[in-house]
Amino acid sequence: MKPTAIVTSGPTREKIDPVRFISNFSSGKQGHAIAEALLKAGFEVTLISGPVTIPDPVGIKTIHVETAEEMLLACTTALPVDVAVCVAAVCDFRPVKISANKIKKQTKGDGEILPIKLIQNPDILKTISNHKLRPKVVVGFAAETENLLKNATDKLQTKGCDIIVANNVGDNNIFGSNSTNITFISPQEVEQLGVANKSKVAEELVTRISKLL
Ligand code: CTP
Repeated sequence: MKPTAIVTSGPTREKIDPVRFISNFSSGKQGHAIAEALLKAGFEVTLISGPVTIPDPVGIKTIHVETAEEMLLACTTALPVDVAVCVAAVCDFRPVKISANKIKKQTKGDGEILPIKLIQNPDILKTISNHKLRPKVVVGFAAETENLLKNATDKLQTKGCDIIVANNVGDNNIFGSNSTNITFISPQEVEQLGVANKSKVAEELVTRISKLL
């Protein structure tokens, strides 16, 4: 039987009102590339993607979601699997309340402050790592703008995963780009891959995942 994997990819989108949302710059390129590399390595892959403009990879079951809560549900419903790779840039917060109608401009005019209350979203990676059906290998990403190695190593522990792919997003060229600058961190070792194509990162990651299986 083929080994199975889920991959989260892209941003999530959290609605404020019928025409506005909170999101981020994630393109889904890295997550989709990892799903394709896993397929090539013989995995049966389910890709769980937030809203992206790139096409669904051929031969991969792709589940489209919008919000963090929908992404979490799609992930837990897909368990058990052998491998989970959380690449999605999940919005950490969502508006407490989605306004039923478009929020109108305020009457006082320019500079008026509009308070939108936010509530923290569930942590999908952490939930999968602590799940009773925990996959054999759980991989997370760490998007950092400072203290890359320290923050990423902390995430390996707090999120309870087997590998963290540390990503320096400080120079603003990573989102949407075809190349990235990463370091693989596991409890045993820290390996700097440096600047590489996102497909190369995907292949290298799948090699490391296969060794752990
Ligand atoms: N992640 C997740 N669910 C969330 C937030 C993050 O599954 N609600 C996952 C991401 O897919 C990634 C990892 O956790 O694999 C780290 O994401 P990152 O944005 O770097 O960190 P955060 O957990 O959001 O923490 P912080 O923003 O404080 O750095």
